[in-house]
Amino acid sequence: MNKALKNILERNSHRNLTDPIPSKDEMEQVYQAALRAPDHAWVRPSSFIQVSGEGLKKLSDIFVEVAEESFENLTDDILEKYRNAPFRAPLIVVLVSTKKDHPKVPGIEQIISTGTAGQNIMLALNALGYGAIWRTGRFAFNEKISEKFGLSNKQTVIGYIYIGTPKGKKKSLPEMNTDDYISVWG
Ligand SMILES: Cc1cc2nc3c(=O)[nH]c(=O)nc-3n(C[C@H](O)[C@H](O)[C@H](O)COP(=O)(O)O)c2cc1C
Repeated sequence: MNKALKNILERNSHRNLTDPIPSKDEMEQVYQAALRAPDHAWVRPSSFIQVSGEGLKKLSDIFVEVAEESFENLTDDILEKYRNAPFRAPLIVVLVSTKKDHPKVPGIEQIISTGTAGQNIMLALNALGYGAIWRTGRFAFNEKISEKFGLSNKQTVIGYIYIGTPKGKKKSLPEMNTDDYISVWG
């Protein structure tokens, strides 16, 4: 099978991630792939925050602060879950979409563009032999998060890609029948 297609068809998400993480050169390739995402009118909505090492503690502190300041019915257990969340992988790439004013490109298209950049990141990582999982939860699409990250009110964190080397058994790939999803006109 074609190698590029095989990479797409065989990618899956990994929840158990550990060291080693991609090198600087490998991440450069991953970001180059991200920046090749489709982008209506070249508005460049996507940017990325790379978090590892001490940065994971910083992210954990932000999650705890946001939860304490704005989530209702917070229990100690839930707070602990949020505190530990960033440590589920040794590297996280935060997907940021910046809404640019453009007469033909609404904000939703700009968010979709950043979404496709996210998928390019997942595919590039898979091609390089690393594992990843895209997560959102309450800390995505959250104005308080943008504020704590020092972002502007035009900037939205749309997701977190957790990255590392997969450990444990690989998930089996689901079998899908394209007839269930496709209708053909003409
Ligand atoms: C926008 C988006 C947000 C997601 N958020 C979460 C999440 O918060 N937690 C989670 O466990 N999976 C989340 N997922 C699903 C996983 O990333 C993954 O796609 C799913 O587990 C299926 O695995 P697969 O990619 O191997 O098919 C999200 C996926 C997308 C596209």
